Amino acid sequence: MSVAYQNLLVYYLSGTGNALTASRWMVEQAASKGIHAQLIPVDRTKTPVVPELHGRTLIGFCFPTHGFGIPWFMLKFIWRFPKIKNSKVFISNTRAGSKLSKVFLPGISGMAQWIPLLILLLKGYGIKGLLPLDMPSNWISVHPGYKAKVVNSMFVRNHAIIVRCMEALLSGKRFYHYYVFATLPLDVALAPIMLGYQMYGRFLFAKMFIATDKCNGCGICFEKCPVRAIRMYGAKPYWTLNCESCMRCISICPERAIQASHLMATLIIIATTMLPVYLLIFDFFGSLPRMVFTSLDFFLEWGIKLLLYVMVYFVVWIFLRYKIISLLFEYTSLTRYWRGYKAPNTSAKDYIPKRKKI
Ligand SMILES: Cc1cc2nc3c(=O)[nH]c(=O)nc-3n(C[C@H](O)[C@H](O)[C@H](O)COP(=O)(O)O)c2cc1C
Ligand code: SF4
Ligand code: SF4
Repeated sequence: MSVAYQNLLVYYLSGTGNALTASRWMVEQAASKGIHAQLIPVDRTKTPVVPELHGRTLIGFCFPTHGFGIPWFMLKFIWRFPKIKNSKVFISNTRAGSKLSKVFLPGISGMAQWIPLLILLLKGYGIKGLLPLDMPSNWISVHPGYKAKVVNSMFVRNHAIIVRCMEALLSGKRFYHYYVFATLPLDVALAPIMLGYQMYGRFLFAKMFIATDKCNGCGICFEKCPVRAIRMYGAKPYWTLNCESCMRCISICPERAIQASHLMATLIIIATTMLPVYLLIFDFFGSLPRMVFTSLDFFLEWGIKLLLYVMVYFVVWIFLRYKIISLLFEYTSLTRYWRGYKAPNTSAKDYIPKRKKI
């Protein structure tokens, strides 16, 4: 097979190792054909770093699907990505595949590919490939992780898909997985849910994380977070709204001290939907001219809700130092009973090196 590129760059974001593994396979495939291939994590990167390149380059972006869309951090990365001469791109999103008996079922991309595609097109890139990959779901705050046997069979299947895709891409052909177009109407219909996830859902999921009294303050979660969302206060992790719910911290905590607290989520939902302060505020604005109220309404409500997320979380976080409260929140977290998820052959060592505590 003749190769159409001299370089392959794969930029990836990965919470629990699915996108990392897929990106590794892409790079291995290119390297085996003598192409200069590099794997570049986007973790904590504000300004995209592009190595010096000679010759034609294929650039891949690989990331998990979150809330029928692309993780906010990855979206910002692609938004800032420069136009590189003599290069083409492909987009690959890993998503929540599943397996029913012997049948593999796909996850749902929603806008995860369409939004970056649009941005990259506007930057002037030619899009050579679109590849959704149905990897095991890592969304363990909403369901248990899969059994090892199922996980392994999904990995074998995805490896074969990636080999086929890279063969085509590296020889200069296009590779658009048929799913991408078959599910387009559904993807578009899910756009409002993606918007809701970006505005509310991701912050709610971020504020579900707690460290129980099993936490020994080792700081690994803090050191390995791809978006610096964890602060350490008095050797206890505190999750900020920056959290992307990538599930990395919960999957690598050596003490299994992190839970996605369903009691916390319930309290936050109650606070945001039923707090009397809401009624007072709306009553107050109700007395203003209708126009003023309507223009402020949406952003004000959004801001108040996020403030309530933070306030409820902060109060609970303070009380978590008491063993009884910690136990209450631990035992009402479904993640306490569910199987976790981490891609096979990945570990905390695969992510960002140590940094100083702040
Ligand atoms: C917060 C969150 C939201 C998710 N939303 C979706 C989704 O909308 N559609 C989907 O197919 N998978 C969804 N998933 C599953 C992941 O995209 C999937 O497991 C992915 O392969 C994880 O990749 P990673 O291990 O590289 O992070 C979600 C997972 C999480 C944690
Ligand atoms: S990795 Fe686990 S034990 Fe270590 S600080 Fe984080 S929550 Fe605590
Ligand atoms: S805090 Fe945990 S779940 Fe949130 S972005 Fe960081 S590593 Fe991922």
